[in-house]
Amino acid sequence: MSVHIRLRYALCTQPIELPVFNPVALDLLQMLAEPHTDIIDIVRTINEDQALAAQVLRMANSASYMGRDKCETIKSAAIRLGASHITNLAMAASHASLHASESPVVNDVMQDLWLHSHACALGCRSVAIHTGQQSIADQAYMAGLLHDIGKLYLLKAMERIIQKGELAIVIGRDLLLNVFSEMHVEFGCRLMDHWFLPGIYRNVVANHHAETFDSSDMLLAIVRMVNINSRNFHLSLYPTLNRTRHTLSDDGPLYMDESAWTKMEAAMTGSLTALN
Ligand SMILES: [Fe+2]
Ligand SMILES: [Fe+2]
Repeated sequence: MSVHIRLRYALCTQPIELPVFNPVALDLLQMLAEPHTDIIDIVRTINEDQALAAQVLRMANSASYMGRDKCETIKSAAIRLGASHITNLAMAASHASLHASESPVVNDVMQDLWLHSHACALGCRSVAIHTGQQSIADQAYMAGLLHDIGKLYLLKAMERIIQKGELAIVIGRDLLLNVFSEMHVEFGCRLMDHWFLPGIYRNVVANHHAETFDSSDMLLAIVRMVNINSRNFHLSLYPTLNRTRHTLSDDGPLYMDESAWTKMEAAMTGSLTALN
């Protein structure tokens, strides 16, 4: 059996419950999907995890998210940013710490995946805001953050395989990326189903590389455009493109003018400052 097939088989036999979400962030996302969730409940849930609350405040006050005034508490940040946005920050803040591994090759890819996912989240939010889709800006952020969640699962699965010594082969980055490219959509969908995540995000996970898709789906169009453009800004796991601008979603409803492009680029390339 080839290394490729052995690796695929080993990945497919790992448990679905690997830690790819922070439980509090998962609760928040599910609370947000309820029609009458109170922002006070969101604040209380974040504050139950002090480490998470500190990370959320740090992100809320960072250059990429900051308003005119710094926030001292989760409550003030939630009031300023709103329930959806503060939930986004909780998911992003907790997601960052999940992208680390003791295996150097896995850790290396995880770090790049985190940079890609976070840049896409900020890029998607920017595109939504600057193409007249403000009403879905928070959803666009979350969709950008989660679109490649299947890759994080596969990396966690790979880490487990290495720890248990299940596969006696040396695995390099290129092989990992190739296998993950083939499998991440399928595993992303499995995760979304397993954790009962909202259908709008499952749809993005399922179709962000699809050849045919619903051309009226603006959220999906935004993620597809930002994802492909990430290769212009060294914010992809894959080689950088030759600054080929993608300003039209393929057969989709989205068009970005020069101003929207510039703002998307600034949001994505500035994403690192939101993490410091
Ligand atoms: Fe992807
Ligand atoms: Fe991606």
